[in-house]
Amino acid sequence: MAPNDWNAVNNPFKLGVLGSGKGSNFIAIADAAAAGRIPAQIAIVLSDVEVAPILSLARARNIPAQFIPPGKFRTKLDEDSERAFVHALQEAKVDLIVLAGFMRVLKGDFLRAFEGRIVNIHPSLLPSFPGLEAWKQALDHGVKVTGCTVHFVDAGVDAGPIIGQEIVPVLDDDTPERLHQRIHAAEHDLYPKCVAAIARADIAVTGRRVLWKTGHNATVPGST
Ligand code: GAR
Repeated sequence: MAPNDWNAVNNPFKLGVLGSGKGSNFIAIADAAAAGRIPAQIAIVLSDVEVAPILSLARARNIPAQFIPPGKFRTKLDEDSERAFVHALQEAKVDLIVLAGFMRVLKGDFLRAFEGRIVNIHPSLLPSFPGLEAWKQALDHGVKVTGCTVHFVDAGVDAGPIIGQEIVPVLDDDTPERLHQRIHAAEHDLYPKCVAAIARADIAVTGRRVLWKTGHNATVPGST
């Protein structure tokens, strides 16, 4: 399938979700799909962490879920693991891979297998504060607004074309935990909207620019 040809997809549109942790973004997307707000089905959930709650949450919803050992590296998948992830996602015939707190950087063969078909959510307004603990980076830097970003994944870290962003004000009495909590809530609003726009073939990607054909632009909390 050609990257970005959102018309040449399965019906229903199939998602593969990858996560390493608690899975709250997975739940937001699964709820939106179940309620018909995302015209898609979650075909498979994969994790590099055997005890990650995202796996048990998926199984509780009768969504196939699988742990795939990541191999010998700390921040990426080794070759065998990468092959196993690609195989599982191809077997499940996914149209879009949704990274929901997947804490390993995806590399060459994985990216080539699903070119232009991987999205990620990051807890800052990219390109500010890529990498770990972005909410803490924002607080330490003293910015007055931060937020979250949904973007396509390319070979850079938190670097691909931006699909949507939602703003979260930084309050004078914020702690890292409180700010993180409000960013998380914004993520649960933003991510389903962006995945729905892709599933509806409602976006067009030109270079770094992702345009929403409906004119909608997910930037403001609560906007539709
Ligand atoms: C989310 O805040 C997401 O932005 C972040 O991990 C969290 C996962 O939460 N991802 C990254 O930092 C990736 N660079 P969840 O497991 O509750 O969805």
